[in-house]
Amino acid sequence: MKKIIIINGPNLNLLGKREPEIYGSLTFIEFLETIKEKYPNVELDYFQSNIEGELIDKIQKVGFYYDGIVLNAAAYTHTSIGIGDAIKAIETPVIEVHISNTFSREEFRHQSYISPVAKGVILGFGLQSYELAIQSFL
Ligand code: DQA
Repeated sequence: MKKIIIINGPNLNLLGKREPEIYGSLTFIEFLETIKEKYPNVELDYFQSNIEGELIDKIQKVGFYYDGIVLNAAAYTHTSIGIGDAIKAIETPVIEVHISNTFSREEFRHQSYISPVAKGVILGFGLQSYELAIQSFL
């Protein structure tokens, strides 16, 4: 059984309420339930934090024995050398995901410290971006 974790960064705990015209009206927990039902043969864990260091701690903790990390570092994508370095330091491959197409938005969202060290990047497909990333590990 593949062991995969979804790690979500800041403000993604507000999905469903936060700017629904961009991020949709489903909560992440509701979405996660449907994904778990759809992929019963995946051991799927979930972690969310608004704190950069907690995200780095989690990446380090899972990064030597999970089969895959699906990471939406949210706003830290565009600022965090620390998260980029953590991904470089571990063995587990990381797929960077975004709900929105960050390249069709403000210019500061075009920069990513994750993309150069990620195995791949999936963005702009709404919450389906996460599912596509999970499928890439199967
Ligand atoms: C996001 C895009 C980021 O630019 C933004 O800061 C987020 C969410 C996305 O999933 O579309 O919080 O990562």
